[in-house]
Amino acid sequence: MEDGILPAHVGIIMDGNGRWAKKRLQPRTLGHRAGAQNFRTIIRYASQIGIKYLTVYAFSTENWSRPAEEVGALLRLFKDYLEEALRDFMDENIRVRFIGDVAAFPQELRELIAEVEEASAPKTGMVLNLAMNYGGRAEILRGAKAFAEDVQAGLCQPEDLTEEAFDRYLYTAGQPAPDLIIRPSGEQRVSNFLLWQCAYAEFVYFDILWPDFKPQDLDRAIEIYRSRQRRFGGV
Ligand code: IPE
Ligand code: IPE
Ligand code: MG
Repeated sequence: MEDGILPAHVGIIMDGNGRWAKKRLQPRTLGHRAGAQNFRTIIRYASQIGIKYLTVYAFSTENWSRPAEEVGALLRLFKDYLEEALRDFMDENIRVRFIGDVAAFPQELRELIAEVEEASAPKTGMVLNLAMNYGGRAEILRGAKAFAEDVQAGLCQPEDLTEEAFDRYLYTAGQPAPDLIIRPSGEQRVSNFLLWQCAYAEFVYFDILWPDFKPQDLDRAIEIYRSRQRRFGGV
């Protein structure tokens, strides 16, 4: 990785596990296992190269519509990963946070989520946001409701709602907006990821399926990001 400005916040839509498995005539769940393995590699690499915030989309609010067997397999993979994170991942200086409505997950998983969040809270390195049961629209509605409740409680007035103030009602409160969002798998859509936060993100799409996405592909995405001219509406 050559020296240069790094994006402070990178988002990754980890897509293409199912097609990866299908290409090998294997069940989709095998693709998810390979994807989960690759997730471990890529987060470590991102932390090594100095990314400050990494948000990975692991499960969307719409992914519940998949067959129960597939959802169950995904929940088991999350559990395995969180148990592993508690065991050895804690040696790494990564702070794990969860964005999304985790209350919808089974109790065992919710407990693990709370443990991982608590155990990694003192970490000072990369912040890893795991987007689980996350949807950008749901996040915005949740923020709007919380703000309305604060108004009702007399804590603030409707006119206090600025973009900066609303930001504090989102899961990513206090974090910079993503500079770069990467989507492997060939699809070129947002799929309800970081809708509010992505207003000025640079998008990079790759024709690679997530389990095949290598650290060099992250480097490549960062190179593409660096070659872009960000204008933020200016000239
Ligand atoms: C991404 O891979 C993982 C999740 C959405 C949980 P997919 O399962 O969407 O893989 P494709 O898009 O069907 O290949
Ligand atoms: C987006 O992928 C969600 C995650 C990667 C977790 P999907 O596979 O669910 O998105 P669509 O259905 O292709 O838009
Ligand atoms: Mg997909």
